[in-house]
Amino acid sequence: MAKEKLSLPQLMAMKQQGRKITMLTAYDYGQAQLVEEAGVDIILVGDSLGMTMLGLASTVPVTMADMLHHTKAVVRGAPNTFVVADLPFLSYQVSREEAIRNAGLLIKEGGADAVKLEGGGPMVAVARAVVEAGIAVQGHLGLTPQTATQLGGYRVQGRDEEAAKRILEDAKALEEAGCFSLVLECVPASLAAQVTAALSIPVIGIGAGPYCAGQVLVYHDVLGLFQRFVPRFVKQYAQLREPIVEALRTYVREVQEGQFPGPEHSFN
Ligand code: KIV
Repeated sequence: MAKEKLSLPQLMAMKQQGRKITMLTAYDYGQAQLVEEAGVDIILVGDSLGMTMLGLASTVPVTMADMLHHTKAVVRGAPNTFVVADLPFLSYQVSREEAIRNAGLLIKEGGADAVKLEGGGPMVAVARAVVEAGIAVQGHLGLTPQTATQLGGYRVQGRDEEAAKRILEDAKALEEAGCFSLVLECVPASLAAQVTAALSIPVIGIGAGPYCAGQVLVYHDVLGLFQRFVPRFVKQYAQLREPIVEALRTYVREVQEGQFPGPEHSFN
């Protein structure tokens, strides 16, 4: 039987019942098919595709065109999974009108079910405006990669009391603004537990310890496909890079040595 796409009330119920929510990135049709088949609750078309799919150094250069292109493919591959698409850097910060227009594009053209945007403070009003336009929004606090330079790089956030208080306050403000969920990245487990307990919406952690309502990881990290760097919070459930390269090497050798194609791959 085909899996059913989760609704927002069902996601809320999962948090209330203490059933952990699974979220994983996917960036194309084939990956989305595999992720849906594995039974993941939410697919994130993350702007991490800048690194994993486009070979960029960060998420900053990712464009709306990139996000739309990949979101469409993911939605085609996983028609029965709730899909969140990232709003890329500078697609929502300049004005609320632009934020609503770009979020609307990811929903209307891309086919996503919701959008995600990074930051608290002034971004709370932006999230509110997008929600009020009728679009489901997921917040993202802690380490926000689009503004990692301002945060001093890719490092754990909310370690001191003041920073932890700011994250907690921002989380409450995003919930109050109407966000249906919040991603909390790279913060101490105790802070993530505090935020999770303080909110009624589900907090999805990445590098935020075990007490969140759910967990998110990057597809390439889970499968051991991305070797440029592996953050400490990543668990690699497989090491697929080596077997893939080995299979490709075998193909190259067999063609070079005349073993492929054999009679079973040829037409008489
Ligand atoms: O872009 C992404 O993959 C993300 C996750 C790391 C949460 O935002």
